[in-house]
Amino acid sequence: MNELARRAQRVLSPVLGHYTWLPLERGEGSWLITADGRRVLDLTCGIAVTPIGHAHPRVVKAVSDQAGKLMHISSGVATYEPNVALAEFLGTVLPSGLDTFVFQNSGAEAIEAAIKLARQVTKREGIIVFRGGFHGRTTGAATLTTSKAAYRKGYGALLPEVHVAPFPYPLACPIRPAHDAEACAQDALAEIEMMLEHEVPPENVAAFVIEPVLGEGGYVAAPPSFLRAVREIATRIGAMLVVDEIQTAFGRAGAWTVAERYGVVPDILTLAKALGGGMPLGAVAAPRALHERWPTGTHGSTFGGNPVSCASGLATLTVIREERLVERAERVGEIVEEELRPLAHHERVREVRRLGAMVAVEFDDKGASKAATAGALERDVLLITCGTHDQVVRFIPPLNVAEADLRKGVRAFVEAVGAGSPAPAAA
Ligand SMILES: Cc1ncc(COP(=O)(O)O)c(C=O)c1O
Repeated sequence: MNELARRAQRVLSPVLGHYTWLPLERGEGSWLITADGRRVLDLTCGIAVTPIGHAHPRVVKAVSDQAGKLMHISSGVATYEPNVALAEFLGTVLPSGLDTFVFQNSGAEAIEAAIKLARQVTKREGIIVFRGGFHGRTTGAATLTTSKAAYRKGYGALLPEVHVAPFPYPLACPIRPAHDAEACAQDALAEIEMMLEHEVPPENVAAFVIEPVLGEGGYVAAPPSFLRAVREIATRIGAMLVVDEIQTAFGRAGAWTVAERYGVVPDILTLAKALGGGMPLGAVAAPRALHERWPTGTHGSTFGGNPVSCASGLATLTVIREERLVERAERVGEIVEEELRPLAHHERVREVRRLGAMVAVEFDDKGASKAATAGALERDVLLITCGTHDQVVRFIPPLNVAEADLRKGVRAFVEAVGAGSPAPAAA
């Protein structure tokens, strides 16, 4: 245990889970650097937040220029350029019609706002979410979260009228053989129709809230047909489709949004993580006509849309556009997949899967995934896990990572897996 971690453990709450206690001093592009000069390749992007790496000169300049001009005033008190300019930029890259924005500080706050907007415009209360989804840690967002029961444990009654539908996760599909994504999606859709007949009157449903790719839940992409079918059901019953792209947007999944990639237009889109380029920022996007039905003053935030966060986000998204990193994301994902090939028949690996630059290796248990990430870190590569049992290792490389660094990093992981992991835990 290093000295910084020892100090942290004395004064910081143990409620926060830690993937590692790496004592960081700074970040430089795709690299993290510790106080004693160790360089670690960051294949986490700070949980999908820094798509163009750390301390990108254009982002650093935008942040310091803005901090020197106006650090805070609150978007409800006055208006300022970065807030408006970021909203204007978003209008050019999001699915058509999503042209109006309310900024928040985080993903969970964006989800809270989306729930409120859906309930205001539909005058209904019910929310249908999908098993394995992660939407945040605030009370409302935690109610919508089912990626792990631990996130709800000990918190008593949460938000009422939240119902959980199956998500097509072929490896976890209870009925059909694993790996048949379409069949799994058909079963899940049939289950939703049953829910609407037996438990949840359609006229009570304000919204479906869905991650198109389960993030914390294991990096599992729904088939496009599933998202389209949920879109159709929402339209049919007069409910909002809220697509949570907090982890997937801005190139991560090989497109500005998965909604665009799948040809689905949500009523409401939630954004955060990469949106702020490393500064705290969230947003709810929806058509102007919808926002106009959200009574003024019924929602707000002191810090949401902070000038420095917006300047950081705008600089980051501008680099993504100018350097064509959305297009490059697909290649980044392919490189990871190519280098992972030696693991295809590894006895502890159940599946390697990918959408864009979101790549996952699902192991047969947490012992194997944790041994693999620990082995990678010994080789100076930072990776994190996800999945209900932490049995999945996710690769979240910077979209501008150098090919040689990426290949070397993934090879180090493969070597760590090959070096062995403990036998599966006894059932
Ligand atoms: C899809 C998704 N939604 C919501 C959240 C919550 O975001 P935050 O941690 O910024 O509150 C996350 C965070 O991991 C996420 O991945």
